[in-house]
Amino acid sequence: MSDVTKSENTIIVTGGAGFIGANFVHAALKVGGSTVVNLDKLTYAGNLENLAALADEPRHIFVKGDIGDRQLAAELLRTHRPAAIVNFAAESHVDRSISAPDDFIQTNVVGTFNLLQEARNYWQELQGEAQSAFRFLHVSTDEVYGSLGDDDPPFSETTAYAPNSPYSASKAASDHLVRAFFHTYGLPTLTTNCSNNYGPYQFPEKLIPLVIHNALAEKPIPVYGDGANIRDWLYVTDHCRAILDVLEKGIPGGVYNIGGRSEKTNLDVVHTLCSILDELAPRESGQGYVRLITFVTDRPGHDRRYAIDAAKIEAEIGWQPEETFQSGIRKTVQWYLDHAGWVANVTSGAYRDWIETNYGER
Ligand code: NAD
Ligand code: DAU
Repeated sequence: MSDVTKSENTIIVTGGAGFIGANFVHAALKVGGSTVVNLDKLTYAGNLENLAALADEPRHIFVKGDIGDRQLAAELLRTHRPAAIVNFAAESHVDRSISAPDDFIQTNVVGTFNLLQEARNYWQELQGEAQSAFRFLHVSTDEVYGSLGDDDPPFSETTAYAPNSPYSASKAASDHLVRAFFHTYGLPTLTTNCSNNYGPYQFPEKLIPLVIHNALAEKPIPVYGDGANIRDWLYVTDHCRAILDVLEKGIPGGVYNIGGRSEKTNLDVVHTLCSILDELAPRESGQGYVRLITFVTDRPGHDRRYAIDAAKIEAEIGWQPEETFQSGIRKTVQWYLDHAGWVANVTSGAYRDWIETNYGER
């Protein structure tokens, strides 16, 4: 056991201005007494508004920078002497990885490698308890395992890697580097592979916030292909709690799959969102939001089904999700309805260019 969140400790969180990272920073500051140094490059996906509630929190230190900047990483490690690094920073959107993969290789592969190198240098100089308690937790995805057929068992920690998109290939590469740093150098790493998250602060390029945003704007709701692709959905705060639990109880070198046992087709998800919106924000026309659903050209190489077998984290760590899909999706819709200003800010400028790139010719 390694309680890195106790009050005398500092943890470095990378990508903590993004969707899951920001939720994690809020959660870590709430449950533990540790200080959080938040290293984020503030790409289009990073948003300081996600951290606005922490403006007066002395235990949150924000640093704008790149995980691939070794000098900066070395300096932060030397200055803050963290008990752990939690690496969320990544390019995360599959469609963007298809149209422009370069940044995915740079951040997800080279950036993670550079961070691992500096973490290793730092860790090797630690002594005794500080050295044995140190953890490098790498946040990864179920997409590294590829695509399941209808009757295949869910992904377990021993499922062979078979990434299909530039995004998942870049995450797979980073997972392999993390594994190698444990086996070769003994760096006490942990890797978590989680299924699809949803909840507050998710950028409206991803399915759930995009559907809510388009529906409220009376725009077409784009469903790729036949809408029968399956994802396994987990409310973001359940993911964050799982990471905190793995930090504390995970065995160095360990891999932990995280998922909500909540498989849904995309059409199911879209229909659920439409019916909650019909109830909470009915259209002026009186028609249901389902009328906005529009089938569009499929994503190239689109994985058919993801599903996570969470037996290991449930048994060894004692983690269970608290939200069901029904409770989490309702909270999510309500959050977006309550945060129209946040949505308006993130959907201006560059967001419109992306929507034109991705949907213009579909
Ligand atoms: P996101 O795109 O919302 O946020 C990524 C954050 O990383 C942003 O704040 C961005 O500014 C920052 N960033 C990007 N490049 C950086 C760099 N070079 N240096 C420092 N910061 C950089 O992503 P997310 O959905 O919150 O995902 C976070 C992590 O969780 C990713 O590693 C992703 O692969 C993984 N993951 C996501 C999901 C999901 O459903 N969203 C599921 C499983 C795993
Ligand atoms: O499985 C975990 C992964 O989940 C994470 O590693 C990724 O970072 C995260 O982006 C997510 O990837 P997906 O590709 O599954 O998520 P996305 O929200 O982009 O799409 C979910 C499903 O909905 C997928 O089958 C594609 C489909 N889709 C998506 C969009 C944006 C549509 O039908 N229409 C859309 O407009």
